[in-house]
Amino acid sequence: MTKITFIEADGTTFIATAEPGMSVMQVAVNAGIAAIAAECGGACACGTCHCYVAKDWADKIAPAQDDETDMLEFVIDPAETSRLSCQIEVTPDMDGIVINVPSSQT
Ligand code: FES
Repeated sequence: MTKITFIEADGTTFIATAEPGMSVMQVAVNAGIAAIAAECGGACACGTCHCYVAKDWADKIAPAQDDETDMLEFVIDPAETSRLSCQIEVTPDMDGIVINVPSSQT
């Protein structure tokens, strides 16, 4: 089990458990995090699963591929550690990762 901490814009914190191979988006949706709308279901086509990976974790996970980087140009309030959570695959070494959730995706 990999534990992922999600921090919503208002400071509400959720700690969810994930299995390797899931996407961070799937974990967030399962945890009921409303700001992760994930309208395209993980097809890297909507940007509504945008999140901010905590700075001390951003370089420890696999980098974004070109299609993710392209879609990140269209998200609301992008930042240095912006990622599409549907494109981050959970791995055991991500245990304890912190994901900050934007206030809105629409
Ligand atoms: S769920 Fe649509 S881009 Fe991630």
